[in-house]
Amino acid sequence: DKVYVNGQIVNPQEAKVSVFDRGFIFGDGLYEVMAQINGRFFYEKEHLERLQSGLHKISIDFNANLLPNEIKKLLRAVRLTNKDCMLYIQITRGVAPRQHSYPSDITPTLMMYSVPKVLPEINMVNAHVITRKDFRWSRCDIKMTSLLGNVMLNEEGVQHDCYETILHRNGLLTEASHSNVFFVKEGIVYTHKADEYILNGITRIVVIELCKSLGIEVRESAITLEEVNMVDEAFLTGTSTQIAAIQKIDEHQLYIENEKGPITRKLQGAFLKLKY
Ligand code: PDD
Repeated sequence: DKVYVNGQIVNPQEAKVSVFDRGFIFGDGLYEVMAQINGRFFYEKEHLERLQSGLHKISIDFNANLLPNEIKKLLRAVRLTNKDCMLYIQITRGVAPRQHSYPSDITPTLMMYSVPKVLPEINMVNAHVITRKDFRWSRCDIKMTSLLGNVMLNEEGVQHDCYETILHRNGLLTEASHSNVFFVKEGIVYTHKADEYILNGITRIVVIELCKSLGIEVRESAITLEEVNMVDEAFLTGTSTQIAAIQKIDEHQLYIENEKGPITRKLQGAFLKLKY
């Protein structure tokens, strides 16, 4: 019920950001979403490191080490300390007269809010997805607030009663509109490599490590659009998605009812036991 803006914790109606904020005008900013589960943020350090590295990529001068303390203040104010919740963090370049180039002497705008949320049971989702051409730009590694491409592609999935839209570029499956995607073929797990065509999800990294520790062969190599009809299993990963089994890709049904594949099941089981 309260939000954090530049050091102040206020009611959302009282929170003010200039219309000349470059986040508003250009989408010139980054964000993070973290989940607090059983009283602890899931891989907080890794999320904040990704944010810091993104800020560095776009030359926003902000020290992400300041965040844990500010997050604590916000959670205390909204009484979510140690409660299951989602935290949204946004840092934009700041306020300046409209010009494309980076202004000098500009102070970044920091906004955060947290809402209570218990994530759905990990093994309850049997996601239906559609595939669409990835028409976003070529710096998907930057977790920027300008999400129009993701929003449009997600909406298409929703219009088709789907949980997600998975994307392909140059014939390769990249990621989904707000999650990463994995496939299983003949016992081997495949996911697109972490280059500039995907966001390197924290959950993605955790799941790759889980595969390794479980002795499941994992390759950071993309599945082609033609191969997608031949995969045995598929699943999505993300902060709120965790690991969601994919039941149907376009017209290709992977399993019936709740009979998802053994590797997806094994990873979900191990995911729930993670210590972080
Ligand atoms: N989505 N790919 C995209 C395009 C994403 O937007 C996200 C996260 C992911 C998964 O990243 P992670 O495992 O670090 O959450 C992959 C966030 C949660 C969102 O937009 O709400």
